[in-house]
Amino acid sequence: MDELGVLIFGPIGAGKGTQSRRLVEAFDLEHVETGTILRRNAHVETEYGTPAEYMSKGEYVPDAVVNEIVERELSEVGRYVLDGYPRTRSQAEFLDGVADPDVAIHIDVSEETSVERLSNRRTCPSCGATYHVETAPPAEEGACDECGDSLVVRDDDRPSVIRERIETYEERTAPVVEFYRERLPFVDVDGERPPDAVWSSLSSAFADAVDGLSN
Ligand code: AP5
Repeated sequence: MDELGVLIFGPIGAGKGTQSRRLVEAFDLEHVETGTILRRNAHVETEYGTPAEYMSKGEYVPDAVVNEIVERELSEVGRYVLDGYPRTRSQAEFLDGVADPDVAIHIDVSEETSVERLSNRRTCPSCGATYHVETAPPAEEGACDECGDSLVVRDDDRPSVIRERIETYEERTAPVVEFYRERLPFVDVDGERPPDAVWSSLSSAFADAVDGLSN
């Protein structure tokens, strides 16, 4: 298929970024990741203030700011995995007007797993690669394997902000996931297992869902 639109959902720290990077490689997709784009533009002034003012508290950036980013990014790609969007009903309605996604994926993990993974995550501020200090450490402590830059703890990976992000997700995004479960071919994955095991079931269920689109 020349064009393919994929939505990937899951609680914070479920492994959306980790598995999206594998989907990009295996299925020739572009990774459109709203969190990364917003972090790169964290201090850009908008009429609502800067993205950083919301992100550092674990709140969502206003819909109008994120909608504009997504519309621009999607206008440039035909095959994409959209990671981190839509997160609200109003974003889902906006997406309806600018794109026609084909498949949705949901990676589920418990609250305990979200907290454990994000407390131990280290992120590369330059290329966005992520590590886990115990289960997926970089080859050289504190340095990115991909580009060599120094790894950091994201502002919103502090314990008090992690709790706030979990609440925001439950209140605002969990209903959006259920909305797409009814609307699109939907791949449910248990994210509690190691990354290779998650990938094994995700990739085969995803390939089946894509095959189903052309039949
Ligand atoms: P965003 O960057 O999208 O954060 P998130 O959804 O909270 O998700 P994370 O990136 O924290 O986790 P992930 O699921 O990608 O997990 P990862 O693969 O890194 O958004 C951040 C903020 O931006 C939001 O709070 C909001 O303010 C703003 N924003 C973004 N989109 C927005 C929107 N649409 N509207 C409004 N605001 C928006 O993995 C996590 C860790 O676990 C890593 O260390 C990894 O190595 C490890 N790991 C991954 N998989 C496994 C596994 N299977 N087993 C063991 N360890 C694993």
